[in-house]
Amino acid sequence: MVERTIVIVKPDGVRRGLIGEIISRFERKGLKIKALKMVRLSRESAMKLYDVHIGKSFFNSLIDYMSSSPVVAMVLEGDGAVNVVRLMVGETDGRRALPGTIRGDYSLSISENVVHAADSAVRAEYEISIIFTPNELAE
Ligand code: CMP
Repeated sequence: MVERTIVIVKPDGVRRGLIGEIISRFERKGLKIKALKMVRLSRESAMKLYDVHIGKSFFNSLIDYMSSSPVVAMVLEGDGAVNVVRLMVGETDGRRALPGTIRGDYSLSISENVVHAADSAVRAEYEISIIFTPNELAE
């Protein structure tokens, strides 16, 4: 089933010059880029994005970090896109993520793990609506 999902290259990925590498992996896989932008997230947007983690020990540092410098957000579309993208991203903790995945190849950290990807189609639509305006998503 054709789905769409959202990927965010986090501040560490942008600072380390990995934007092109990450976009190119998804393009080569055959996923379509439907929207793309660089943006500095407000604390409010970061909190909405990570609302499921409110109350956890790492929540405040996660919000500080995600709003510390620009991120690159993209909407990707393709057959089974949500799961395909999560497989390509790898486990949350870069030390456990398999080689060949983005985190497995570029991260040794659980907090600075290069990218974020939505974990379901419903969640993807919610996260897309936080970052992109309807106009930016128009065909
Ligand atoms: P992400 O996939 O963007 O979703 C939630 C983020 O919270 C996660 O990647 C990590 O960056 C961060 N995170 C999750 N667990 C921890 C943790 N135990 N310590 C610090 N950060 C975490």
